[in-house]
Amino acid sequence: NKVVLAYSGGLDTSVIVPWLRENYGCDVVCFTADVGQGIRELEGLEQKAKASGACQLVVKDLKEEFVGEYIFPCLRAGAIYERKYLLGTSMARPVIAKAMVDIAREVGADAVSHGCTGKGNDQACPVRFELTFFALNPKLNVVAPWREWDITGREDAIEYAKKHNVPVPVTKKSIYSRDRNLWHLSHEGDILEDPANEPRKDMYMMTVDPEDAPNKPEYLEIGIESGLPVSVNGKELSPAFLLAELNEIGGRHGVGRVDMVENRLVGMKSRGVYETPGGTILFTAVQELESLTIDRETMQVKDSLALKYAELVYAGRWFDPLRESMDAFMEKITETTTGSVTLKLYKGSVTVTGRKSPYSLYRQDISSFENSVIYDQADAAGFIRLYGLPMRVRSMLKQGI
Ligand code: ARG
Ligand code: SIN
Repeated sequence: NKVVLAYSGGLDTSVIVPWLRENYGCDVVCFTADVGQGIRELEGLEQKAKASGACQLVVKDLKEEFVGEYIFPCLRAGAIYERKYLLGTSMARPVIAKAMVDIAREVGADAVSHGCTGKGNDQACPVRFELTFFALNPKLNVVAPWREWDITGREDAIEYAKKHNVPVPVTKKSIYSRDRNLWHLSHEGDILEDPANEPRKDMYMMTVDPEDAPNKPEYLEIGIESGLPVSVNGKELSPAFLLAELNEIGGRHGVGRVDMVENRLVGMKSRGVYETPGGTILFTAVQELESLTIDRETMQVKDSLALKYAELVYAGRWFDPLRESMDAFMEKITETTTGSVTLKLYKGSVTVTGRKSPYSLYRQDISSFENSVIYDQADAAGFIRLYGLPMRVRSMLKQGI
């Protein structure tokens, strides 16, 4: 039998390879997903996996799938967790886990394995992986070494590696717990654990300090079709290239830093700092265009569903029919959210300066402050009397009239 392991080349996943062989007597197929995290030494990776005892390394570029099929639907839905978090890590887990299920089928594996610890800053990780495995192939066995073995720390892991002739990766451990992909970079741990501490200037990696950003603002035009971004300054780009370009532009202006205390999946609070430069620009643009294309009541319903949508994504329930059905709603309701939004980036801020759409519900001839044919001031009197009827009835009752 065979197992597909989510493999990064770091110490933990390197040790899992011999451990799986020893404890389950199975062949190990290592899998590395490229979701834009910046994989170092991709060439050396296969050798490294094999040196740990893997029979094969599969590398898949999931960037377009990640942005087009996971990030953009969340963007269209307006999914934000607890008012601030743009769900960068949460969205990446299901796309990686789905690829593992596909690879397991291709190589004839009956099990999958991941290196999530399920502890500290990593509690939701196994949930997000495993719910995806369950949803896509309930027959797969799931091996989570951190729930089974007695390796408890870095020292243990190094010792285990040496005993099994696994080369110990030399990557130095960052003081922060970080997770990076094309959408965002998260920072947790160390001095951030006290929510009163300001993050250090040198912690950030995707964005410059707004104080050091250019003194000249930069204008941007984002083209949108049916709620999904398609172009930057008139240039059409694929989802992944579009996002990469906006990360670069936004990063340069210090856009998209978020510092928050969030409720983790298991209920405890934790402090995290996120950098989402391109994502922040896109969120601002898409939401803004809806102000032209979506009416009041629809927007209220959409926003209320967006809350639930974000909660499901955070909780690892991407493949839940509830999210999928809400997505069908989001797709339908944003059918006419097409047009463009112009934005001004300046020292960390994104300001909307204009919006237009061929499906705009805004009519200057009606909304104009001048009197017009469609809006006749005289209609107001009857409208207000009827609209205010419940108010008057209640007031009459109170005053005994
Ligand atoms: N708190 C965020 C989330 O739950 C980011 C987690 C980053 N994960 C990590 N293992 N460092 O999605
Ligand atoms: C993850 O990295 O997917 C989970 C982080 C957490 O436990 O909240």
